Amino acid sequence: MSTGRYNLALLAAAVLGGGVALGISHATGQGHGHDAAEVASGEPASAIRDEMQALQVAYDRLGRAAVLGDTTGLVESFHAVHARKAATEAALASGAARPPLNGDQLEAFKARDEAFHASIEAVLHAAESGDAAELRRLHVELGDACVGCHAQFRGGVTDPALARADAAATRLAVTLRARVVEEMGKGGPPAAIRACSEEAPALAATIRSETGVELGRTSLRLRNPANAAPEWVDAWLREQGERPAAGVSPVATVVDGKARVIKPIIVDTPCLACHGSPDTISPEVRSELAARYPADAAIGYATGDLRGALWAEVAVAR
Ligand code: HEC
Ligand code: HEC
Repeated sequence: MSTGRYNLALLAAAVLGGGVALGISHATGQGHGHDAAEVASGEPASAIRDEMQALQVAYDRLGRAAVLGDTTGLVESFHAVHARKAATEAALASGAARPPLNGDQLEAFKARDEAFHASIEAVLHAAESGDAAELRRLHVELGDACVGCHAQFRGGVTDPALARADAAATRLAVTLRARVVEEMGKGGPPAAIRACSEEAPALAATIRSETGVELGRTSLRLRNPANAAPEWVDAWLREQGERPAAGVSPVATVVDGKARVIKPIIVDTPCLACHGSPDTISPEVRSELAARYPADAAIGYATGDLRGALWAEVAVAR
């Protein structure tokens, strides 16, 4: 096993950090700044928030389990979420807590919450039986559930179409990178390159057909010419130029009846194995890349660079 050489923990951090997994709630540019401040103060304003903060921790653990196979603290963290369910229900019943948006649709809220806790049961079972594939599936399922419930009940006036686009983009990023990490662990970068080049287009196509969301990953310097940006994403890329990713903001906007999302993609240390400077890329990786991507322009990056954009677009329902 050659995992040590490629620092899978860092790659997973690249996957899970930077608001990718939870771009769901915060990276859509919809301004939840006050939430962050209140979380930081450690004083949950309501039972719902208290449960959500526990859930945030648990979901991050699930990400680690799904991507790295590291189940440390997973079961405990979801038990902590379960333990808060009764308090949330009591607060909803007494009127002490209400979802900020559609606070009158309590039955629908409870139904979503019930379904969600059923998924959590499934997580606990999968963790118990060590079913890694099921944990990965549940990571995606729960992520979709966060987005769905937030769109209906959380407010911040997120357009449901934006939430759908955001969820689809998140799913592409998380699933793809999970596959890269998995293949790196099994067969090193050459195996990961094969998985990436064979599965990336198919995965995007699957998500497109399941959700109706157009999406992709793109860059000013492409490895695969088939990843060329649509015009509106190309304009954004050109506006940013080649630069460090620090300070680049995500986009979430509705234009001409279309919900559009752009998330900056950042180069992290593990990416350098395949996107770094030519003299640090191993000969086996160079030859695998040369065979598959004769026009590869996606090398020469350094940690912290803006690599490109994860984009998604869907029509707003009328
Ligand atoms: C059943 C509906 C529902 C589901 C499912 C749900 N959320 Fe939430 N979430 C809410 C509501 C409602 C709020 C807003 C609470 C408020 O501001 O009073 C919220 C707020 C949050 C917050 C901000 C908490 C704070 O302190 O302001 C975070 C973080 C969060 N959710 C994470 C998640 C994650 C992660 C998931 C999925 C793993 C998820 N939520 C799934 C309903 C839901
Ligand atoms: C194991 C090698 C490998 C690693 C590690 C890797 N990539 Fe890639 N990357 C590829 C391959 C191969 C493609 C082309 C996939 C395709 O054909 O769609 C690609 C394509 C991309 C694209 C799509 C745009 C383009 O140039 O075609 C982006 C964006 C990207 N990678 C970003 C990253 C980031 C960010 C990281 C680190 C978190 C990373 N990659 C790590 C091999 C790798």
